[in-house]
Amino acid sequence: MINKGIILAGGMGTRLSPLTKVINKQLLPLYDKPLIFYPLSVLMLSGIKNILIITNPNENNIYKKILGDGTRFGIKISYKEQAKPNGLPEAFILGKKFIGKDGVALILGDNFFYGEGFTKRLKNGLKKNKGATIFAYAVNNASNYGVVKVNNNNKVLNIVEKPKKYISNLAITGLYYFNNKVIRFAEKLKPSKRKELEITDLIKKYKRDKQLKVELIGRGGSWLDAGTIKDLFDASTFVSTVEKRQGFKIACLEEIALRNKWITKNLIIKSIKFYGNCDYSNYLKKLI
Ligand code: DAU
Repeated sequence: MINKGIILAGGMGTRLSPLTKVINKQLLPLYDKPLIFYPLSVLMLSGIKNILIITNPNENNIYKKILGDGTRFGIKISYKEQAKPNGLPEAFILGKKFIGKDGVALILGDNFFYGEGFTKRLKNGLKKNKGATIFAYAVNNASNYGVVKVNNNNKVLNIVEKPKKYISNLAITGLYYFNNKVIRFAEKLKPSKRKELEITDLIKKYKRDKQLKVELIGRGGSWLDAGTIKDLFDASTFVSTVEKRQGFKIACLEEIALRNKWITKNLIIKSIKFYGNCDYSNYLKKLI
């Protein structure tokens, strides 16, 4: 059963420097909210209420300032520090105690997902997960990502991290579901040539055991990451366009919590006081 989620919010964000010289990437604005709101909203939309945020050393407190212990969103947030960006699978080693005997969802702090029917797919994926589930998305520049090649029946043929030669246009997005074996698998991994534990090596262990499932996010869905300044800008423009057109906010954490019946109006009033007089608070006022 997957009822826990980890957000990886560390890393140096070197490609976004100088923006990231003093502010961690996941706290940069993606249009009208800090970037971390978006991956957190994905976990909340999946129904996950118990969340661990992994940050760089001495950065826990900055995240706590905006997200606290999760009470305002009807969830439980705990924090853990990663000494160095040793690779994504370290999340499961650092999070061993947090995960306990459960399965776990991992989402990268710089990933943005949006689309009709996405919540349903998230929940279905969680329910159906046996070993590992990855979410793939067709992109123009797959070689910047982990890439998966599948056959017509969605069977995984190959997985490569940032391939030099073309193998497929399907990027592996930064959302993953794993059963409890993930801890053992992560502990056995060896660092790659770039001296990091690689998520693709971890996923390959599930492929070897025939326990890997790929969910394709189709053309109606959107997946963006904020890896570069241009990506961050494009994602901000996307959110701004959709929000302005519809009048709904993307990744309003309090709204998701209210719809999930995890909080009542009283906590929304608390949030309005917390944020102060701003556009986000005005939106919250409309909800109640
Ligand atoms: O965005 C999806 C891609 O994310 C996948 O397709 C790749 O397979 C996967 O390796 C990863 O590639 P990136 O090159 O984008 O990973 P990056 O090093 O930028 O790290 C992603 C996020 O995770 C980033 O916001 C920082 C955080 N992070 C990263 C590392 C390596 C940590 O918190 N700790 C770490 O040790």
